[in-house]
Parts: sequence; structure tokens; C-alpha cells
Amino acid sequence: MLVLTRSATMGLLELEEVIEAVEAAFLLHGRGHALEARRFPVPARDGGSFHVVAGGLAPPGAPATFALKCNAHFHSADGSPRMQGAIMLADAQTGEPVALLDSRVVTGLRTAAVTAVAARRLARPDASSALIVGAGRQAPGQVDALAAVLPLRHVAVHARDRQRAEAVADHARRRGLSATTAPDVRAAAARSDVIVTVTTARAPVLTDADVPPGCFVAAIGADAPGKQELDPVLLARCRVVVDVLAQCAAAGELAGALRAGTMGEADVHAELGAVVAGRRPGRLDSEERFVLDSTGTALQDAAASVLLLERARQRGRGRELDLAS
Ligand SMILES: NC(=O)c1ccc[n+]([C@@H]2O[C@H](COP(=O)([O-])OP(=O)(O)OC[C@H]3O[C@@H](n4cnc5c(N)ncnc54)[C@H](O)[C@@H]3O)[C@@H](O)[C@H]2O)c1
Repeated sequence: MLVLTRSATMGLLELEEVIEAVEAAFLLHGRGHALEARRFPVPARDGGSFHVVAGGLAPPGAPATFALKCNAHFHSADGSPRMQGAIMLADAQTGEPVALLDSRVVTGLRTAAVTAVAARRLARPDASSALIVGAGRQAPGQVDALAAVLPLRHVAVHARDRQRAEAVADHARRRGLSATTAPDVRAAAARSDVIVTVTTARAPVLTDADVPPGCFVAAIGADAPGKQELDPVLLARCRVVVDVLAQCAAAGELAGALRAGTMGEADVHAELGAVVAGRRPGRLDSEERFVLDSTGTALQDAAASVLLLERARQRGRGRELDLAS
């Protein structure tokens, strides 16, 4: 198996190519050519937890890949959040492990990519203004994802920490976008064609009244039981597209709406793969409000990791290791 450290995974992939790979993965899922996607948390001591994400891709006529990611969410001694982890890839026909890699680069790229894949189908094609709620590790990639697929001109960033919001706004400016920080999240939401929520919030940051007609909301932050960024009434009044239904029902925004009784699973518009495969419609008019409920899937991890592995081999990166020796 090829072992890739964090530094060996850096600078190998562009977001644009990961967007195409992740789109292809959801197409396979929508056509029934994917392994079952699973995701579950394992609580550790002292408030930390391990998040296990497993599944894979089985394209017809091409090698099938299993991906198993374990990301650990702990706090450093100074109280700041710390995420680290690894991805194992295996041949899904023989079971042979083929790669072990640090998960940080893949997680960032594939989390941004799913927003782009959904925005292509669920945002208004003329969407030019975006609000990013949250200014952590994943926030800059979300700006990049929207800019890659929409005619984006303006980005507002809302975060509890003004300096971190300013850093994400700076990132947007470096891309040539106009960008501001937004102390009032509701006022900024009302002016936005697209909203990305990418926080660790455990209570809604946006309600039904905050999201204007025609808006596309990518809800990225809620990826574990108890996390929630959107009010359950808002969710019930939008068309909801989930990455994988079972995952979202257990741990996404959908879980909050199911608990509150504002939605049943049958009220979900579609899984993203069904929209990508054309089995369910995406946006049909300019007034509809769409929500993507993203919990993060092994489809994305497999797609981005396979691409990364191919590139690493071409560039001679990493170290071969025979685990079974
Ligand atoms: N869906 C996915 O595939 C996926 C992938 C990676 C991370 N995530 C999740 O996305 C979230 C963000 O990840 P990150 O790595 O950027 O986290 P991070 O810890 O680096 O940053 C979190 C940000 O959220 C802000 N925040 C928390 N509560 C808030 C609130 N109530 N209102 C406004 N801002 C608030 C914090 O101030 C910080 O800016 C996490 O919950 C993470 O687990 C999801």
C-alpha cells in the first residue's frame, strides 16, 4: 500500500478537478453503482470523538474502491478544536488495502466540492452574492467552491470571531471578489442568493424568515448527532436535498427536523445522487428555496482519494509498505 503523509498529499489536486470527481461519484450513487455509505461517531473520553465514514464506489467496468475514514475531533490544551485523521483505501473486489493517507487535504477539498456539485443544480444560475456563516477551517474552501461554479461577485462572512471572519473575507478578496464581514447574520442572509452554514453550532443560526426566495442554502456543519444550524421549520419549508438519506436522518439537519416533527423522511426532495443522475429535478424556478443537507460521505472521500493516489503515484510521492509482510 502507498502511505501518504499530510505533506505528501499537499499541492497535488486542484479543487476544480475534485468537483468533477465528486460529481462523478454522486452520479454513480444515483445510478446504484456505489457501496452502502455509512457514518457513525464513537465518543471518546474528555469530550473528544472519532467520526467513522465508510463506503465506496463500484463503477461498471472499472476497479471498485472502498474508503474508510476516521477523523478525530478533540480539543487542544488551549481549548481550540483539533481535527486529525486518516483514510484507508482498499480494492473493493479483492479487499486488498491499497493506500493509507492523512485525511486533512481530502476532507477540505471534498467538503468544498459537494457544495459546488449541489450549487450547479440547486442555486439560481445567476447567483452572485453569497453569505458564509462560520469562519473555521472549512470556510475558505466553501468560497472557492461557489466561485468555481457560480458568477459570484460578493461574499459576506459572519462569524462570532470578527478576526476570523475578516481572514475569510480576505481569502475571498484574493480571489478577486468583493467581500465584507457581516455582524448581523439575518440582514446579510436577506441579501444573499446563496448561504453556506459551516459552523459547529448546536442550535439554529438561521430561521425561516431569514432566508429569501430563490436562495440556495448549503448546510455543511451538522455532521454529527446534536449539531444543528437551521431551524426545523425553515427546513420543512424548503426543498431539501440530502447527500445520503440515512446519514442525514441520523446526524444532519434532517435529524433535527425529524425530531421536531416538522418533516418526515418522505418529505425530502431527493438524494444528491438522484439529482445528478437526472432521476429527480434540481431547481425549476427562480423562487424556490433549496437546502443541501451535507453530512459528508465516503463517496466524496473515495472520489478525492482515488484522484490523489493516482497523482501521487505519477509524481513519485509517498512510501510503499507491505502491511501483510
Ligand atoms: N458536511 C461535511 O462533509 C463536513 C466536513 C468537514 C467538517 N464538517 C463540519 O463543519 C463544521 C465546521 O468545520 P470546521 O472544520 O470549519 O470547524 P472549525 O472548528 O474550524 O470552525 C467552526 C466555526 O464555527 C463558528 N461557530 C460555531 N458556532 C457558531 C454559531 N452559533 N454561530 C456562528 N458561528 C459559529 C466558530 O466560531 C468557527 O468559526 C463542523 O461542525 C464540522 O464537523 C462537515
